[in-house]
Amino acid sequence: MALLETIGLSKSFGGLRAISNLDVDVEAGSIHGLIGPNGSGKSTFFNLVTGVYQPDPGSKIFFDGLDITKSPSHKIGALGIARTFQLLRLFSEMTVLQNLMVGYHTHVSYGFLKTIFNNSAIAKIDAQTSDEMMELLEFIGLADFASMPASELSGGQRRLLALGRAMAMRPKLLMLDEPAAGLSPVNVDRLMAIVMALKERFGLTVLIVEHILKVVMETCDTVTVLDYGQKIGEGSPSEVKDDHAVIEAYLGQEMDDDEIRAALNA
Ligand SMILES: Nc1ncnc2c1ncn2[C@@H]1O[C@H](COP(=O)(O)OP(=O)(O)OP(=O)(O)O)[C@@H](O)[C@H]1O
Ligand SMILES: [Mg+2]
Repeated sequence: MALLETIGLSKSFGGLRAISNLDVDVEAGSIHGLIGPNGSGKSTFFNLVTGVYQPDPGSKIFFDGLDITKSPSHKIGALGIARTFQLLRLFSEMTVLQNLMVGYHTHVSYGFLKTIFNNSAIAKIDAQTSDEMMELLEFIGLADFASMPASELSGGQRRLLALGRAMAMRPKLLMLDEPAAGLSPVNVDRLMAIVMALKERFGLTVLIVEHILKVVMETCDTVTVLDYGQKIGEGSPSEVKDDHAVIEAYLGQEMDDDEIRAALNA
């Protein structure tokens, strides 16, 4: 069953069609990759699904059987979609633990507002929540840094924290926009191992945009390939990497197919 489904999804910015008539099904329990050249519409797709942008008329987005096409971001978050951003948007002056709490409070925003009128309820929620958040920090390997300002973390730790903050929303669907950008190969492997472990532990579905093709090829069940906002290929990683149209659009015509396959297997 598709947990996320878009039908005829389109988004224009003035004369530019950033996403064009896109049908995508993300199967429950899968890791689904979204790849394509710079400017092909990957982040725009994330912004449409999470309600940051309104799609063009005629578009439909369903999540867990519900039509969320016109839902605001906070409602989409509460329904179970969490994301990371290409530029991380952490709160650098806040501690690691506080950054996680922001994710959690986004999840419970309405319930939490009610508790503001009841101090003992706040104390109870906060104790329980911080236990859960500490468990999550241990899972992502940042427990020792809980009270450190986010600004003092290394680049790799900041990427882990962004992942943790999304997880604090307790999503069903976790959407990662280039989670491994700028990481060394060892840290890429470490991050992806954590993503896989979180997926198993919390029964997640994962949608991942990633330029590091090795990550996509090794971890995804299904890959959708975009070019100029259109779907130009879709299938298992091995199907996609043998698709000539995909290869040409994605990696350029100057390489021959064998070179491209070697790059994809790198
Ligand atoms: N808010 C906006 N206003 C105008 N144009 C936009 C806006 N957001 C995105 N675009 C345009 O839409 C197209 C798709 O951009 P998008 O950021 O989705 O690409 P991408 O596939 O995520 O690229 P990258 O791999 O570089 O992150 C680009 O041409 C971009 O300039
Ligand atoms: Mg992008």
